Amino acid sequence: MKFFIDTANVDEIRAANDMGVIAGVTTNPSLIAKEGRDYAETLAEIATIVDGPISGEVKATTTDAETMVKEGEAIYALDPKHMVVKIPMTAEGLKAIKALSAKGIPTNCTLIFSANQALLAARAGATYVSPFLGRLDDISQRGIELIETIHDMFLNYPDIETQIIAASVRNPIHVTDCALAGADIATVPYKVIEQMLHHPLTDSGIEKFKEDYCKVFGE
Ligand code: E4P
Repeated sequence: MKFFIDTANVDEIRAANDMGVIAGVTTNPSLIAKEGRDYAETLAEIATIVDGPISGEVKATTTDAETMVKEGEAIYALDPKHMVVKIPMTAEGLKAIKALSAKGIPTNCTLIFSANQALLAARAGATYVSPFLGRLDDISQRGIELIETIHDMFLNYPDIETQIIAASVRNPIHVTDCALAGADIATVPYKVIEQMLHHPLTDSGIEKFKEDYCKVFGE
């Protein structure tokens, strides 16, 4: 399983990229709005930092396929080597995915909450599907079961090349579960990367090595 970082904060993106752990970035309208900067400018800057797929979503106010395609083309044009157009899971969204994919523009179908939605998005030509794990957990449904089901379902059809991005990942246990469930990618907030890399025994081990070393060899 690869990691994408789920943020529009360029400092967090740089920090994670410097660690060498991320292969791409996902954003959404809420994450970009949180940064309070120009939408397209933010995406273009992110694409200069990470050499991998960068998901940028069509406007949150857009509901028709024709406009989604126009906006998708503009997002893609920001950096055709990296940009992936994120499209919400609706009938119009599927039409837009079909049209963009016919033009060779990669897409990420977002707000997936059922296996059937994932199958529809795959058949429309989505490069990625993003099932939202944490938001299902929030309403007392086991989000990880959705990732497992989509993974198993796609395995039945070798012609499906759509990759599964486990999204709405909120903690390190989600990450391990997604890897065991066979997600191709987990997109994680920076905070979760930090939580994953720390272990109290690692921290105390470093302190003990330092203490023992300094006793004999000095600072
Ligand atoms: C995925 O692409 C979304 O940006 C994200 O993972 C949503 O996470 P949240 O449910 O924690 O907002």
